[in-house]
Amino acid sequence: MKTLLDVRNISKRFGGLHAVENFSFAIEKNTIIGLIGPNGAGKTTAFNLITHFLPRNEGSIFFQEKNLKKKPPYALIRHGIARTFQQIRIFPELTVRENVLLSLSWKYDSWWKSFLLQDESEENATAYKLLSEVHLEKHRDEKAGNLSYGQSKLLEMVRTIATGAELILFDEPAAGVNPPMLNTVKKLIRNLKAQGKTIFIIEHNMPFLMEMAEEIIVMENGKFLCRDVPTKIQKDIRVLEAYLGGS
Ligand SMILES: Nc1ncnc2c1ncn2[C@@H]1O[C@H](COP(=O)(O)OP(=O)(O)OP(=O)(O)O)[C@@H](O)[C@H]1O
Ligand SMILES: [Mg+2]
Repeated sequence: MKTLLDVRNISKRFGGLHAVENFSFAIEKNTIIGLIGPNGAGKTTAFNLITHFLPRNEGSIFFQEKNLKKKPPYALIRHGIARTFQQIRIFPELTVRENVLLSLSWKYDSWWKSFLLQDESEENATAYKLLSEVHLEKHRDEKAGNLSYGQSKLLEMVRTIATGAELILFDEPAAGVNPPMLNTVKKLIRNLKAQGKTIFIIEHNMPFLMEMAEEIIVMENGKFLCRDVPTKIQKDIRVLEAYLGGS
């Protein structure tokens, strides 16, 4: 197995608060890995450090054996790392299709070219195919701002996938998503795995993660607590204590 992401001793402090402290782990290529921990454990901050949405105070991160230090978040997409946000970020005034086209268009020198694409263009066909996977193709010409919460989440996931990234980070993809849509999310993630992608998922929905993840990493108070297969994590007393202690 080949290591895709190697995170070594990263730390992030907000004033006196150690949101992430000396956190290390590695992820193998083409695996589905979960990241759990009580509210405030530092999961989203860890994602922000990996994707450079926040600068870290310490540590190093290697992606495909490269140290991507100092690259801005948008540059990481070119290197193959893309993510969704705990609070959905889509362009509400653009159509559903345009939202996807923008993610497909990072390879152009000018992003606005995505608005000039012909209906029969390859990009439009790709956008249609991706939107069909999440049953949003009929909404492609509607404003993204008119989608339901669950649909917006699916659109954000599709946008992330459309970048073609090797490593995809989903921050709570199951939160607030109804059961039929959750099945769509599961299918989408399984498709990514089948395509050779690597998926890293933060989630509080344990049944979902137990079903999807091959391994789960647990954080507590910014620190690495443990890592194992879901069935072992489920029975790990340290994990139970972390959750009980946090409430
Ligand atoms: N930009 C920020 N400025 C100050 N403190 C922050 C900032 N972002 C996060 N924190 C704090 O860092 C800690 C970790 O937050 P983080 O959002 O990473 O937790 P989380 O594990 O994702 O929690 P949740 O499960 O609730 O989403 C929390 O105490 C949070 O309040
Ligand atoms: Mg979070």
